[in-house]
Amino acid sequence: MTDEQLTTSLLDWYDRSRRNLPWRSDNDPYRIWVSEIMLQQTRVETVIPYYQRFLERFPDMQALAGAPEEELMSFWQGLGYYSRARNLQRGVREVVERYGGQMPDSHEAVVSLPGIGAYTAGAILSIAHNKPEPAIDGNVLRVLSRLLKIEDLIEQAGARRRIDTTIRAMMATIPRYGDITQALMELGAIVCLPRNPCCEECPWKEFCSARQSGVQGSLPRKKSSLPVRIVEVYTGILIADGRVLAMKRPAKGLLAGMWEFPSAEGIELLEARFQATGHEVSLEPEWFSLTHTFSHREWRMRIFHCKAPRIQKKTADGTRWMGRDELQTAIWAGPHRKVAARVDKEFGELLQEKGS
Ligand code: ADE
Repeated sequence: MTDEQLTTSLLDWYDRSRRNLPWRSDNDPYRIWVSEIMLQQTRVETVIPYYQRFLERFPDMQALAGAPEEELMSFWQGLGYYSRARNLQRGVREVVERYGGQMPDSHEAVVSLPGIGAYTAGAILSIAHNKPEPAIDGNVLRVLSRLLKIEDLIEQAGARRRIDTTIRAMMATIPRYGDITQALMELGAIVCLPRNPCCEECPWKEFCSARQSGVQGSLPRKKSSLPVRIVEVYTGILIADGRVLAMKRPAKGLLAGMWEFPSAEGIELLEARFQATGHEVSLEPEWFSLTHTFSHREWRMRIFHCKAPRIQKKTADGTRWMGRDELQTAIWAGPHRKVAARVDKEFGELLQEKGS
């Protein structure tokens, strides 16, 4: 097989089979940038409605650069990995300030923007600027590691280099660089699937070394992934005078600056958190439990109703008595959104419209 055969068969397949995705309708660098950041850790079907709402509200770099953080977060809520949104905004501000809102088109300039690594830089440069820059994400690694039957660990630099070289060689045959990038991603997303690849539909089925040896299902080889840390989280719901007590998470770390119901990694610690707000609580039997998985952490949450003999109406910074309006609209930290929905469903009628 030649590089040209690889490219031609891939692009023919892409022209016939590509999905009609909203970020494929134009090559505006800002729109491509937003799509790539959203797609980094989130599935295509989930991203589509977020992408559309986001761009209606922030149609260009100037709009996003000027947006208040709370509003930005409200458009990102549910996508997770919120630092992506903050970095995107920082990056956009830099392009507005340093480059007058024109996305630079050199690898060095793009990759030095906040939140942009080699993959995203390659995607923006190839898709928006049609530059011959590979964009190698997990999908692309999988497709190429199978095509080339790379049996080394995929994290190793040598494996990556072979993949990079192959894509550059393909790009050198036909100057549809953005389409080559997207076709490789598309192949990984709909044909060359991690567990059950649909080899019969693959434009490369005659070329794929892994398939010829029947090992496609066991490639790419990866170091076993990081263990997930399991955290027991105890969460208390204190409702008094038609309001529910909520606290803001610290400005740094996981789910920074978002709202949660008072929570801690043990019952005594939870009581101490309430104590710090001036409440001596007693916990009722467990109300319900839920499990939420982050990338390397799993929260096993147990949610309790609390009672307190004396209520402190005035609360310190970072603590709020929320009415129903805020319960429904606050930016909740990850699984606390599900807890808030449950509080609203079962106790919403008892809550006042407005908080304090
Ligand atoms: N995943 C990451 N980038 C993508 C894109 N441009 N199209 C489809 N899936 C993607």
